[in-house]
Parts: sequence; C-alpha cells; structure tokens
Amino acid sequence: MKLWSGRFTKATDKLTEDFNASIATDSRMYRQDILGSIAHANMLAKQGILSAAECDQIVSGLEEIRAGIEAGQLDFTVEAEDIHMNIETLLTKKIGNLGKKLHTARSRNDQVALDVRLYLRDEIAELRKLLLTLEEALLKLAREHTDTIMPGYTHMQRAQPITLAHHLMAYFEMFRRDIGRLDDCTKRLLSMPLGSGALAATSFPLDREYIREQLGFSEVTRNSLDGVSDRDFAIEFCSFASIMMMHLSRFSEELIIWSTAEFSFIEFDDAFSTGSSIMPQKKNPDIAELVRGKTGRVYGDLLTLLTLMKSLPLAYNKDMQEDKEALFDAVDTAKKCLLVFAPMLMTSRFNKSQMAESARGSFTNATDLADYLAAKGLPFRDAHETAGRAVLFCINNQLSLEELSLEQLQQFSGLIDDDVYKYLDIRECISRRIIRGGPAPETVKTALQEADKWLEEMKNE
Ligand code: ARG
Repeated sequence: MKLWSGRFTKATDKLTEDFNASIATDSRMYRQDILGSIAHANMLAKQGILSAAECDQIVSGLEEIRAGIEAGQLDFTVEAEDIHMNIETLLTKKIGNLGKKLHTARSRNDQVALDVRLYLRDEIAELRKLLLTLEEALLKLAREHTDTIMPGYTHMQRAQPITLAHHLMAYFEMFRRDIGRLDDCTKRLLSMPLGSGALAATSFPLDREYIREQLGFSEVTRNSLDGVSDRDFAIEFCSFASIMMMHLSRFSEELIIWSTAEFSFIEFDDAFSTGSSIMPQKKNPDIAELVRGKTGRVYGDLLTLLTLMKSLPLAYNKDMQEDKEALFDAVDTAKKCLLVFAPMLMTSRFNKSQMAESARGSFTNATDLADYLAAKGLPFRDAHETAGRAVLFCINNQLSLEELSLEQLQQFSGLIDDDVYKYLDIRECISRRIIRGGPAPETVKTALQEADKWLEEMKNE
C-alpha cells in the first residue's frame, strides 16, 4: 500500500510506478536521510510532539535500518518510490505503527532538500581533500623543477623562456581558486530547510534551531517556499565542478601534447598509459584524454540543472527529482578525475634536456634583446623593430641571436655592447624576471613558500 493511498481508488499503474520512482538513484542518500530523520525525531521529542520513549524507539529503529542497509540485509522497493518512503516503510515494518509518527510536521519536499544538502556536504569534504592532495603534488613537483627551463607559449608558438615550476604553479593557482569556489558554495549550502514543510511550513511548534544545531548547519532557511524549491547549491556545486574540470582538461591537453614524439617533453608512466589492440608500438595517454573527455559530461550536468530549474514555478515540482542524477554524476566524475590525475602527473617523467632545447630554439630571447635596447634608452617600439630585423637576419642565415658576432649585432644598433650576450642567455632571461608573479627561480621559490603556507592553512580548515 502506498504511503499516500487514502484518496486513491485504484492501484498505481506499473508504468507509472517505474516512471515515477527515484529509488535507483537516490538510495545512495540513505545515510543522510536517516541522519535527518533522527534529528527531526529528537526535535519532535524535545517539543513534546513525540514522547521520549517514542523517540528512542524511532531513533534505534532508524539506526538498525542503517546497519541493515550497510550489511546488505535490507532491500529497497520501487513500490516505495524513493529513499525517503523506503526508509519510512522499513521503519514501520520494524517498529510498527509508531513509525508512522516520524513524518509529523515534515514533507518529503523539505526532507529531500535537506538530504541533498547533507549529501553534498559530505562529498564536498571528499573533493576538497582530493583537491588539496593535487595541490600538494603540484608543489612537490614544482619544487623539483624551479630550474627546469622550458618554452612558454602563446598561440602555441614558442614565446619566452619560463621554468616548468612556473608553468605548474599556474595550475596550482587555478585549483586554489577552485577550492575557494567550493568553500563559497558550502556557505550557502549549509542552510537548513526542515520546517518548510511541503511549501507553507507547519503549524506545529518545531524548534528549527535545534535541528540546525544537531546537523551542524550554519543557519535555517528564511522562507518556506524557497526552502523546498531552492537548488542553487546544486547548481553552484556543478559550476564549481565544471570550472575545476575545465582546469583539469586544459592540464590534460598540455600533457597529451607534451607526450607526443613531436614535443617529447614528458613520458607517462606505463602504469598510467594504455596500449593499442593493433599497433604494438603504441603507448597512449588515455587517462589524460578521458579526463579531458569527461569534462563535457560535467558541463552537461550543469546544463541539466540550469535547464531543469529555469521554468519551475514555486514551490516544489516533481521535475526536481531529476536533479540527483546530474548532481551525482558531477560528483562522481569530478572525484574520479581528481583521484587519478595526481598520480598520473607525479609518475610522469619530464625530459628536461628536450624542454631546455626547445626553449633555446625559435628566438624566445628576442623580447629580451628589445628590452636590452629599451633599457639603453631606445623607445620600445623602435627597439622591437630593431630586434625584429635581427631575428629576420638570423632566420635567413640559420643562426640564433646569441650566435651573432658583436659586429653583426652592432649593424642593427650602435647601442649594442658586449654585455648583450648575458642578456640573450636563456637562463638569464628567466632569472631577470624577479618581479612578483614572474618565473625567476628565486621568485618561484618565494611563491612556493607562500603556497606551502596557504596549503597548510587550508588543510586545517
Ligand atoms: N523523490 C522526490 C525528489 O527527489 C522527493 C520529493 C517528492 N515530493 C513529492 N511531493 N512528490 O524530489
């Protein structure tokens, strides 16, 4: 019998039942559902709506059900539709009619709003740890490569020399912002909706603050209509996840390019690569490619939620049941990608000589020649023109700038002196860039120290 069968004269069609049920998806929230129900029961007892003995029986019943689910001894049914009614049904089976009192002054609408928030809070804690682990890995790797020279690119053309550490720290910054977004989303997530009822709150004298406190939320929702129909927190989470995946995807893309024979900057470890079923020589960067590919599905999850919510009138509508598949998929995908990414990165071998070799080719020191002239008083536009002519000369004669003799260089500008060679040295090009945010090894070391400090603070939060 349905928990809502009173006004019905017919049994639910099997098709309706299957179509309407969400238990296959929302069963994963069983712990949160039970946690919320225990807090609700405790509050009902505190307010004298349940007796202390009734509350005890309900709470221990719920705890036994949790243990039973975890031991694989209890089955959910499609007849009971969703996780909320499944647990309530199991409770009534276990403790009898008293189980039916649990839903006093509560609706599945505020119940599900609470459960999803509780669920997301747990998952956010996991994701935050995974992000911090990735940050730690990046710092470790960067520390090893403050002197590893590589070309920096714009338009995928070699532009100016940088170090691998500096490049890695760019990703550190991206993930740092992601952690900020995660923390920011948590602030609004921790608003406790129970007491909103179906939509119009309740006439029972509930103590909403007491539930909030038990569950560790920071505030209670301020409007019952909004309390049951707000899914902003899920959308904010998926925005975080989408942006974070975009960062992982950019990183993956770079690693994939770097692993090509044409670049040969890195080699993925065998344990984090795969082979080809036909070409015996192949070693493919499937893991990085999959991270890049899975980014699309997380964007899809965000779009699903935004589209789901865009035309919903207040308050609850069943459309909202569709939020969970997208949200869970975003959580699962983000977690899986973060989990595999850090070890994949850390086991990669970096071909330092190839990276330095690439930085030395293609005139990545041309800007420094222009800067040299500008520092000697030539207006930068003219300095740029002069350096450009020197580059053209080198291209035509298959030389690099530093291979030109002083006489040859002086043909381009009388301002050029012997000290120009120091200026053209790739290592010098990098180590002169000591400005805050720059790639000079000493500057990056300072940035690493700051990053270490931040990471420690984040770990303790
Ligand atoms: N399974 C539903 C969901 O996930 C729970 C709330 C249902 N409420 C209702 N009145 N049908 O959204």
